[in-house]
Amino acid sequence: MTSGLEPITLRAITGENLHAVLELSVADHQRKIYPRTNAHSIAEAHYPADDDAVWLKAIYAGETPVGLILTSEAEDRGEYFLWRLMIDQRFQGRGYGRCAVQLLIERIRQTDNPKVLITSHLQANSNAGRLYEQLGFEYTGEKTGADELELRLTF
Ligand SMILES: CC(C)(COP(=O)(O)OP(=O)(O)OC[C@H]1O[C@@H](n2cnc3c(N)ncnc32)[C@H](O)[C@@H]1OP(=O)(O)O)[C@@H](O)C(=O)NCCC(=O)NCCS
Repeated sequence: MTSGLEPITLRAITGENLHAVLELSVADHQRKIYPRTNAHSIAEAHYPADDDAVWLKAIYAGETPVGLILTSEAEDRGEYFLWRLMIDQRFQGRGYGRCAVQLLIERIRQTDNPKVLITSHLQANSNAGRLYEQLGFEYTGEKTGADELELRLTF
């Protein structure tokens, strides 16, 4: 999939690109609406709170790592949870975030029994909400955590 001129790919985080991914960050003013660093997300991905599979990828534009995407997946139940999505501050607004979620949706669509992709965002993060709604997610009316609005995409 391409966004502008650069092909967007989702790649494993390995010893080779770990430090580049750790250095990616949102802007200072975005920390209130997206408080987790990539170090935090990578640690959580390795020690999840439940037994569901974890899928963690670096988002690349061409050969440049630009972001991170993390899901928790119960393939047997067809339930997928988009847990983290971030594009580094230098690369935002170029369509990369949308492209990464589209790639995730396409991958889930190709599984045997896709039912639902759930996500959430802090109430103040309306940009994320707009992105998800453009991709077909709908607000459920439920709140998760302290102040997070839940959205779901039904397959
Ligand atoms: C939210 C985020 C992942 C979007 O990725 P991105 O590559 O910057 O966004 P895209 O260029 O793909 O834009 C997709 C849509 O998102 C929305 N959006 C993203 N950034 C926006 C901004 N600064 N202002 C308004 N809308 C914005 C728009 O609806 C946009 O579509 P449009 O350009 O057709 O209007 C990225 O900005 C980011 O990492 N933000 C901080 C972390 C975060 O909020 N993560 C999501 C947590 S739930």
